[in-house]
Amino acid sequence: MDTAERPDRYAVIGHPVAHSKSPDIHARFAALTGQSLVYERVLAPLDGMAATVRDFAAAGGRGCNVTVPFKFEAHDLAQRCSPRAMLAQAVNTLRFDADGWFGDNTDGAGLVHDLQHNAGIDLAGRDLLLLGAGGAASGVLGPLLAARPRRVVVANRSPDKARALVQRHAPWAQAHEVELWACGLDDCGSGYGLVLNATAASLQGAGSPVSAAVLGPGAVAVDLMYGPAAQAFLQWAREHGATARDGLGMLVEQAAEAFQVWRGVRPPTAEVLRELRTGLTA
Ligand code: ATR
Repeated sequence: MDTAERPDRYAVIGHPVAHSKSPDIHARFAALTGQSLVYERVLAPLDGMAATVRDFAAAGGRGCNVTVPFKFEAHDLAQRCSPRAMLAQAVNTLRFDADGWFGDNTDGAGLVHDLQHNAGIDLAGRDLLLLGAGGAASGVLGPLLAARPRRVVVANRSPDKARALVQRHAPWAQAHEVELWACGLDDCGSGYGLVLNATAASLQGAGSPVSAAVLGPGAVAVDLMYGPAAQAFLQWAREHGATARDGLGMLVEQAAEAFQVWRGVRPPTAEVLRELRTGLTA
């Protein structure tokens, strides 16, 4: 077969990776946009992520998503990074350009797009509480600030990590005229319009790591995870009168952003998100 006729290859590389919905999402995007590509799951050993990515590129891969726990390492693999990936210091999308690998982070843009376009939540002027200061929080903080809320408070179990994250984003926050603060989980204040859970607490079935006082009237509470991992936090939010949203929309929208990085076209997402939701609840 002539190589020019082969579909372009992409993959999600992680550990674990068997649970990933990305191959299904990108297959639907390819069909909806008429793009010729295949998208696989590739399991990388914990100490062999770089070699796995290089092997995939050498075998003809055009780009890949990188997922837990490799997003920080992927940042070091890229020769060039988007401004949002540099701010996050983490990469979830690599494009194997001939003149050097390009790294991007589409998580935050995916979250903001889901909140603003799918959930109809205008972030401008809101008070946001971001719980967590690990990889997930650092991937979304820059794009959240760029949506120009009034104030963002980053609260973390280890307050020093929240302070470091806030310090790194201070010039970006200033450029977008957003107040940005760091604190611990016990002193993060009350009455927020939007509370985002980017901690791993819900993985442990822990509900919320903060008191319900953080939820202002009409608050929206979002867990960046989806499926069973998000349920404890979402249930806590509903029990305290907030509107709850999981991270499934973010998952689809970050994939759409990655697809655009690779293919130059942003696929439609509404139908794909609907299909995934049906699959989840079936
Ligand atoms: P991820 O890439 O998913 O963000 P991570 O970088 O390990 O994973 O970060 C996990 C985050 O969840 C951290 O903010 C962590 O707090 P610490 O920095 O203090 O470790 C937070 N976290 C994990 N378990 C938690 C719990 N039971 N309660 C509150 N926060 C928790």
